[in-house]
Amino acid sequence: MRTRILNALVLIVTAVLVVVLSDRIAVRASGKSAADQPPAAVMPIGKPLQIKAPLGLPPVPIPPDNPPTAETVALGRQLYYDPVLSADNTISCASCHSPDTGFTDRNKVSNGVGGKKGTRHSPTVINSAYNTLQFWDGRAPSLEEQAKGPIANPVEMASSHADVVKRLQADQRYVALFKQAWGTDQITIDLVAKSIASFERTVLCGNSPFDRYYYGHDKNAISASAKRGLKLFMNPKKGDCAVCHTIGKDYALFTDNKFHNLGIGADADGNLSDLGRFVESKKDADMGAFKTPTLRDIAQRAPYFHDGSFPSVRDALGHYVGGGNMNKHLDKEIHALDFLSFDERDDILAFLDSLTAKLPDNIGPPAETAKASK
Ligand code: HEC
Ligand code: HEC
Repeated sequence: MRTRILNALVLIVTAVLVVVLSDRIAVRASGKSAADQPPAAVMPIGKPLQIKAPLGLPPVPIPPDNPPTAETVALGRQLYYDPVLSADNTISCASCHSPDTGFTDRNKVSNGVGGKKGTRHSPTVINSAYNTLQFWDGRAPSLEEQAKGPIANPVEMASSHADVVKRLQADQRYVALFKQAWGTDQITIDLVAKSIASFERTVLCGNSPFDRYYYGHDKNAISASAKRGLKLFMNPKKGDCAVCHTIGKDYALFTDNKFHNLGIGADADGNLSDLGRFVESKKDADMGAFKTPTLRDIAQRAPYFHDGSFPSVRDALGHYVGGGNMNKHLDKEIHALDFLSFDERDDILAFLDSLTAKLPDNIGPPAETAKASK
């Protein structure tokens, strides 16, 4: 018995050695380590497209291996609105991130294929191009990586990457669109994700009345109440909102791209229903912390917070006035704002309303999809 185990061990060790050594030899032969040679990224074949950021937004960050072109953006838009990405052809990205509701949905938590419920409210896709990390807990590093998530998520689109690729490859229309955009007949999930990400980089909200006032110096762009609200929003001794919902000198993303615990979802004993960023980082400080969302187009995006538990912006403000839900990990910047008068609260709401803007024309459902769904 002993010798048999010993023999097996020797065999395993030899096998490992052979693998390691042959790898070394191969590396020496090529002069490079395997890590230096990622598979060559397929690049778009069209002319790179300049995405023009509207007033109040910085230039859109573009990853070097996915410069947008008119063709990849158009293809991404087609895919974004197409339920072909879901297992039973019922759910598209737009089902949960619809242009009619500020690129979110009306449900507290999203409903996927077969009505399956997720655990979080869908965040907006608007200005997600600027997020340094994606998802409420920041678990995806890029829009490209993010887009692959929902397709295979059993409570969202419940499909598989292989299945989606097979279905697209069987559709002559998509084969032609991929060929035009990427110069290849071989559709892959990476090209699906890259196309969708390029479309998402055009879903921008800026040039709101606030931007025309603050960055465009148009004194009449917002009401007197909204002007007072902006001051309260920025004043560290008053609303102190901008400490997290950042407003810069030249542009405003309304997020610090960081994670904070506001006690959303904490019960009366301070127990958290969702550990948020902690699940990713395993750092104690991240317990129940979620990414600061942008506040652009906020009026269109009810319900609010990561669990969709607040039906109106007024209710969301009320959470801050009360000082958040007490729990061990509450952010140190969160404290009661009950000293704000009712007029001051209305001013902050008037300011938040001034962040609603007309979105670009070419980000809604493309013509063919609109016809097909009628
Ligand atoms: C069934 C509803 C549903 C579908 C379908 C869906 N999403 Fe989402 N999406 C969500 C939810 C919920 C989250 C947040 C999940 C989390 O943070 O854990 C999210 C997060 C995101 C984010 C991150 C935004 C941010 O601020 O972090 C982006 C971008 C996004 N989705 C794009 C897409 C794209 C592209 C598709 C289609 C391929 C898609 N979604 C399909 C519900 C959905
Ligand atoms: C300590 C940082 C911080 C401060 C200060 C702060 N916020 Fe937030 N805000 C967040 C985070 C983080 C979330 C998401 C929390 C969650 O869902 O768990 C959020 C969410 C929101 C939402 C809901 C957005 C959505 O997409 O659902 C609104 C509205 C909002 N904040 C307004 C304000 C206002 C108004 C103030 C000032 C009175 C303020 N915030 C102060 C970090 C902050």
